[in-house]
Amino acid sequence: VTTFGAVLVAAGSGERLGAAVPKALVTLRGTPLVCLALDALVDAGATDVVVVVPPTHREQVAALLPRSGPPCTVVDGGRTRTESVRAGLAGLPSAVTVVAVHDAARALMPAATVRTTVAAVTGDVVAAAPALPVPDTLKRVADGQIVATVDRDDLVAVQTPQVFRRSVLEAAHLEGGDATDDLALVERLVAAGVVDGRLVVTAGSPLGLKITYPHDLVVAAALQEGRA
Ligand code: C5P
Repeated sequence: VTTFGAVLVAAGSGERLGAAVPKALVTLRGTPLVCLALDALVDAGATDVVVVVPPTHREQVAALLPRSGPPCTVVDGGRTRTESVRAGLAGLPSAVTVVAVHDAARALMPAATVRTTVAAVTGDVVAAAPALPVPDTLKRVADGQIVATVDRDDLVAVQTPQVFRRSVLEAAHLEGGDATDDLALVERLVAAGVVDGRLVVTAGSPLGLKITYPHDLVVAAALQEGRA
């Protein structure tokens, strides 16, 4: 069994959700999204968790974290997701060699998917992430006009947790730069020949949807109801 530490990024404002509080504090049947996401990481066996929060809500999130279970610390996030991950990574104990980076916005991702993805990082696999096929037909557009249809057979929608050998993730973050996920940073190192190793996908879960817009909360509540 691979032991792993986790960085739970919860420092976004949630502007697109239109809530009065940061997204991580929005609740589903009374439980804040950050707590739901944390539960999956703990249930999957995380040995340490760093929760990255909006500096304005640090105390509020800290008060919500469980008193029992693995050590769980809170650090201030940055202006971008990438900066927030970087801050979280710095807060993990040095004994942690495999890191799962997870979005608090994917509050319902099952622990089983976390476990499978962690287990995939072994041998020459240096990173793994859950992914789902893309159901829609994809078009490339420019100025509102359709330019081309993109073949979707070799495309997937990638979720979190994205799990990495720590040394690889740290090297990717040391390079600097910004991206919407951590794999993108590692892909750059692989393309440059700096990192050797495979990046793989595991079976994603519809429960891992990213709660972004108000309607996602309605869908998530229904999915949660179905799971309960
Ligand atoms: O903004 P986006 O939807 O990509 O956010 C994905 C995750 O990253 C969310 O869980 C959000 O809280 C987190 N995030 C962060 N710090 C930021 C921006 C986003 O921790 N500055």
